[in-house]
Amino acid sequence: MKIAIIGAGNVGRTLGLAWAGKGHEVTFGVRDPAAPKSSALSDASNGRVSVLDVPGAAARSEVVVLATPWTAAKAALSTAGNLAGKVVIDCTNPLKADLSGLEVGLDTSGAELIASWTPGARIVKAFNTIGYEHMSGQSFGGQRVSMFLAGDDASAKQIVADLAQELAFDPVDAGPLSNARLLEPLALLWIDLALRGGHGTGIAFQLLRT
Ligand SMILES: NC(=O)c1ccc[n+]([C@@H]2O[C@H](COP(=O)([O-])OP(=O)(O)OC[C@H]3O[C@@H](n4cnc5c(N)ncnc54)[C@H](OP(=O)(O)O)[C@@H]3O)[C@@H](O)[C@H]2O)c1
Repeated sequence: MKIAIIGAGNVGRTLGLAWAGKGHEVTFGVRDPAAPKSSALSDASNGRVSVLDVPGAAARSEVVVLATPWTAAKAALSTAGNLAGKVVIDCTNPLKADLSGLEVGLDTSGAELIASWTPGARIVKAFNTIGYEHMSGQSFGGQRVSMFLAGDDASAKQIVADLAQELAFDPVDAGPLSNARLLEPLALLWIDLALRGGHGTGIAFQLLRT
């Protein structure tokens, strides 16, 4: 698939390089494609990824991954151009700066706000409930980590489920996009367990079935 990654930080870089390794056509959309860190991205992938500006990356892709800080999400999307019809994977978490809670929640979610900013885009909330260190998959001794997906477009969710499966995750349909109201606090639980609870970042959620 043609995948644009907006936000080439911890999450975006990990997912982009992992999917490029699986043969997808990955383009990073960055604010400064001429910066040395942009060419470092291409070098890290042995030239398998491209680096363009944000609208250029989005225009050539069918899937757009949003992996910016929450505070930058609206501005990044506003530069991305028309995303109608594209699958947008929302990896962001609307965290307070001190990680003490969420900026939005209960009666809406970051993902629903993102949907309101991108008319016609097929938003799927995913890749927000595990640390970036383990987003390229296969780090838990053969145990498959659950990847919860929330979205209102079934075919978009299937595309994201397939992409998650390629990285060795167990995709779990977590319901409509409004269930991002549940997944974003779940990310907060992960952060609390990892950073305050003494478990470290080598943890992940798994849905067990009888
Ligand atoms: N870190 C994790 O383990 C983790 C796990 C799950 C979900 N998340 C969520 O994923 C998101 C990204 O986290 P991260 O840790 O990857 O953050 P990060 O390392 O700080 O990377 C954020 C990236 O966003 C880019 N960016 C900022 N504003 C932009 C804009 N207007 N247009 C294009 N790119 C822009 C930054 O680019 P510049 O270099 O130009 O500043 C940077 O490369 C956050 O919402 C976070 O809550 C993080």
